[in-house]
Amino acid sequence: MQTAKMAVSLSLLLGINHDMMNTQYLDQISDLLDQMTLSEKIGQLSQFQTPYGQIPENFKQQLQNGDVGSVLNEADLDTITEMQRIAVEESRLGIPLLFGRDVIHGFKTVFPIPLGQAATWSETLVEQAARVSAIEARSSGINWTFSPMIDISRDPRWGRIAESFGEDHWLTSKLGNAMVDGYQTDNLKNHDAIAACAKHFVGYGAAESGRDYNSVNICENELRNVYLTPFKSACDNKAASMMAAFNDLNGVPASGNEWLMQDVLRTEWGYDGVMLSDWDSIRQLSIHGFTENDKASALAGINAGIDMEMVSTTYADHIEQLLSEGKIKTSQIDTMVKRILLLKFKMGLFDAPYTASEKFPELVNDQHRQIAKEVARNSCVLLQNKHNVLPLAKDDLSSVALIGPLADDGYEQLGTWIFDGDEQHSVTCLQALKAYLGNDVALNFAKGLATSRTTDDSGFNEAITAVKQSDVAVLVLGEESILSGEAHCRTNLDLPGAQHALIRAIKATGTPIVLVVMAGRPLTLTPIMDDVDAILYAWHPGTMGGEAIKELIFGEYSPTGKLPVSFPRNVGQIPIYYNQKHTGKPVTDDNWAFIDDIPVRAEQTSMGMNSAHIDCHFTPLFPFGFGLTYGELSYQNLQVKTPSITPEGALIVDVELVNDSQRDIIETAQLYIRDLHASVTRPVRELKAFKRVEIKANSRQPITFILQASELSFYNQRMQKVLEPGLFHCWIGGDSQASLQGEFRVI
Ligand code: BGC
Repeated sequence: MQTAKMAVSLSLLLGINHDMMNTQYLDQISDLLDQMTLSEKIGQLSQFQTPYGQIPENFKQQLQNGDVGSVLNEADLDTITEMQRIAVEESRLGIPLLFGRDVIHGFKTVFPIPLGQAATWSETLVEQAARVSAIEARSSGINWTFSPMIDISRDPRWGRIAESFGEDHWLTSKLGNAMVDGYQTDNLKNHDAIAACAKHFVGYGAAESGRDYNSVNICENELRNVYLTPFKSACDNKAASMMAAFNDLNGVPASGNEWLMQDVLRTEWGYDGVMLSDWDSIRQLSIHGFTENDKASALAGINAGIDMEMVSTTYADHIEQLLSEGKIKTSQIDTMVKRILLLKFKMGLFDAPYTASEKFPELVNDQHRQIAKEVARNSCVLLQNKHNVLPLAKDDLSSVALIGPLADDGYEQLGTWIFDGDEQHSVTCLQALKAYLGNDVALNFAKGLATSRTTDDSGFNEAITAVKQSDVAVLVLGEESILSGEAHCRTNLDLPGAQHALIRAIKATGTPIVLVVMAGRPLTLTPIMDDVDAILYAWHPGTMGGEAIKELIFGEYSPTGKLPVSFPRNVGQIPIYYNQKHTGKPVTDDNWAFIDDIPVRAEQTSMGMNSAHIDCHFTPLFPFGFGLTYGELSYQNLQVKTPSITPEGALIVDVELVNDSQRDIIETAQLYIRDLHASVTRPVRELKAFKRVEIKANSRQPITFILQASELSFYNQRMQKVLEPGLFHCWIGGDSQASLQGEFRVI
């Protein structure tokens, strides 16, 4: 008899807590396990990709045999429904399938890349974007997304920085959880919820030289204090699954790392979600040189506790033999199967395996587009605004030149990982400006360059002519989508191709230049800073990018975005991040020597021996947290209300935000701390809280931060989480270089 049909109605369980639900499911899972053959168990551990929209005859047979636990990358609802029907109705035990896909920043409605979403510093917006993504994906049958990516990313050479929330683990934890909440809702059984997958466990973003898949070496203390923390948060927030990373971590590839996945994740943290391999990452253990062959790789993956193998078939091919040779125990396999069944029960798939398509709204509907616009608008970061060239005032203009290969390209503005995004739905800058300016203001459009990376400058003349006929030039430049994302790493982060040459040619006309950058990473903007007046960093803004950018440059809204990652002056500074350590020889403006100030044939002395490069200033071009707006904002009167706090107490700090302009301002105020002396060295600053505040025109807005003392704890040399007494500094301001400082003591 089919177990799906035997299953007790789980609706009885609604209203009781998660742990009780898990216990209840465990009985059902045990019943099911008792009936499963070894090959059915192995089936649950296997995730396959099939040709899109098709169910080949041999795969149908596999489904009927119960040899499939999950299908990857199918998004055609009819195909998914039919696969699910075969699994549920034609296999012996009727176990439903999980349908996984990379829904990374939207499905049909595309939101800004995750790095852009991080620039909103808004858990609400990130959650809303994930909610829309989940609704659209689930309406197409997908019930599992391989997102969020919560790898700490301090290296913009790495193409996958686009998929991350940037360099800070605290911000990443908050936004990662918001994304999980948006996907999963408060109950995975909801008809429009999908399971999240926090990835990549762990350290993938620290690939040496920013080269994808490269080795990673991070000491345990740094792992625990930084890289693991977003995953611990995702675990506490009940993210349904995690994905193992491709990289070698301290000599042990993550996908075969028992310490990481058994000792830390399962035993210490008690995580009971599904651990999925990355694409082929178990088979690749032998390519790393960690195992001798596929059989040994399967053994390593199982011992590490990876429950499901993505695409490669080392489990399917070797588990039986590994069992008969006594190298693994049936109980290990059972534990893995149980976790997968538990997820399927929690998702209610045994009761409701099919997508209830009648319950879903239309894809890319007005509400979804509106949310996409709002997220895009809040993700744009104003980096420079000389002479307040922005906002532009339509009434003062008779003509605008719109220039650049990304100004009217609905595809390129979507960014990396948009399997389902459709450029037909995009609003480009050209479309948005045309609609807004109408017949009142002439719009002179020329691409100037066919693509972002071409060096063919034959379009320059047309662009220069357009600019000469205009009051202002809006340039939309940057990187095409494919220049960032997985395996798309760069060593040169300047604007590619002939884009700088185009900027210089336009600058020669004397027309004010507003530069909008669309890119998947921080680019090195140093070479062009002096050549343009304003810079609005729009990342890859997604479906509604053009509309959002138009609203900002014409001042319908003021920019609110803040950088989730430091912008280097040049590639040689990388990795440069705000929460670095102090070192024993910190550099300051007073002790830094620039190369041009060092006399020729200078003596070798210990003077000026600082932790700095002599040929580049030691600060980033733009610091973490930075972002301008149109008003005049300052921070004043910081007051620490609790100069000493106990470990059970809380820090309370007041500050005033002062708006000296005629515009209302929305500002993200940030609280940083520094633990001055500790048993392991602590970062020069650590973000501990932020608040989005509205400050009305010409007014003062007092705000208060309350931080529990426990938030000041860290892992010590013995890897214990401790809060040590001592002196702390704190700063509140608009970025990580905030100067308004206070101090307090933990007693
Ligand atoms: C990536 C994962 C992704 C998977 C499935 C891999 O190459 O590293 O992040 O989820 O492919 O597409």
